[in-house]
Amino acid sequence: MKEWGSFDKITSAKGVWLIDSKGNKMIDGVASMWCNVWGHSNPQLVKAITTQSKKLQHSSMFNLTNEPAEQLAEKLVKISPGMYKVFYSDNGSSAMEIAIKIALQYWKNIGEKKKTEIATVKNGYHGDTFGAMSVGYVPEFFGKFKKQLFSTIQFPVPNKYRTPKGFTISDYQNYCLDKIENKLSKNNNIAAFIMESGAQVAGGVIIYPKGFQKKISQLCKKYGVLFVLDEIATGFGRLGSMIQYEKQKSIPDIVSYGKMLTGGYLTMAATLTNKKIYDSFLGEFNDWKHLFHGHTYTGNPIATAVANENLKMYQKNHLIKKIQKTSKIFEKFYQEISEIDIVGDIRHKGMLMGIELVKNKARKTPINPKKSINKIFFEEGKRNGIYLRTLGNIVMLVPPLAISEKELNLLLNRTIKTIKAARSKVI
Ligand SMILES: Cc1ncc(COP(=O)(O)O)c(C=O)c1O
Repeated sequence: MKEWGSFDKITSAKGVWLIDSKGNKMIDGVASMWCNVWGHSNPQLVKAITTQSKKLQHSSMFNLTNEPAEQLAEKLVKISPGMYKVFYSDNGSSAMEIAIKIALQYWKNIGEKKKTEIATVKNGYHGDTFGAMSVGYVPEFFGKFKKQLFSTIQFPVPNKYRTPKGFTISDYQNYCLDKIENKLSKNNNIAAFIMESGAQVAGGVIIYPKGFQKKISQLCKKYGVLFVLDEIATGFGRLGSMIQYEKQKSIPDIVSYGKMLTGGYLTMAATLTNKKIYDSFLGEFNDWKHLFHGHTYTGNPIATAVANENLKMYQKNHLIKKIQKTSKIFEKFYQEISEIDIVGDIRHKGMLMGIELVKNKARKTPINPKKSINKIFFEEGKRNGIYLRTLGNIVMLVPPLAISEKELNLLLNRTIKTIKAARSKVI
């Protein structure tokens, strides 16, 4: 904290541009924490908010419902193969806490009391609350709370750039999957397998190799383990598909959405389940089968209204097709970026790119300067008119999904300039 004397104040934003109190403009290179879809100050989304604000601002979902929340639930179920009902919350971490609680309680509801353990993959990230930290666990983020976190069974994830010696990536993928099968086949107490869908984002942009997620979903079915996916950062077009698990051919029992759900305008998340799970929560009052979970702002009408408008715009503007086209711009820059001597690896899918910085390309040693890499890149980025936030030694590019080709070219050119300018400070 001491490194940061003061913070720049953002006073307005338009399209992909953030504008500070001194009038400086920066491209929002991280979509305001990976959630912005259409750019800032979009008139249709603003109108959806103001229109709903005049009718009903908030009313509880305890015993009641509201029109925009119902409409959104219908839409979410429609676009999510295999899903049946929606549980709203107001941030991704809560959506994951809810997913964990639903998964654990499901087994209790059907009388399987021993199924209490949770399996997951190493280096995942599902949010900063205690349940989410337990199933995620990025050591640098959560190490100080390790004692308070509940234990999980963790499996390695294939990472092409850091495949252990002696393995090809496909050997290593099989090795990871064998480990999972071995455990699931022997341990009957595993309630759920929880993982990010398509890629680990905060854990360093680790894009799963083809078939990895699908095979885990099959193993879960085979061994009676609930399959729980986190699409909070990777769904809704971030990796180039609306529903990432559909693309990965791996239908979950429970899935969480967040971030892009409202276009990045209001805080909102959702946890969806299939019918089998929903039905297990139905019972007489005295059966105590219902889920004791609810937040003050669950199903907030303004947030759900803007989410409805956002989803309408996805369809109307063929956003997923547009993303698939725009994201090709990233590929044009692979060569130029990889030629920089501190760039070890580039990982890219859809509208997500991670550039891994290393001290030594041959040995793949991560850069490790005394000052935070985040601060160095933030300042250099700002000088080049872009807003960046690195994660460890990974420069993340996570632009607003509807960014134009011209703006994305500009962001990438400026990122290259920024890495080159920061080089001497981080090595
Ligand atoms: C995959 C994933 N899950 C959950 C979360 C937590 O979401 P929130 O920050 O809204 O609590 C994040 C946030 O970055 C995330 O990337």
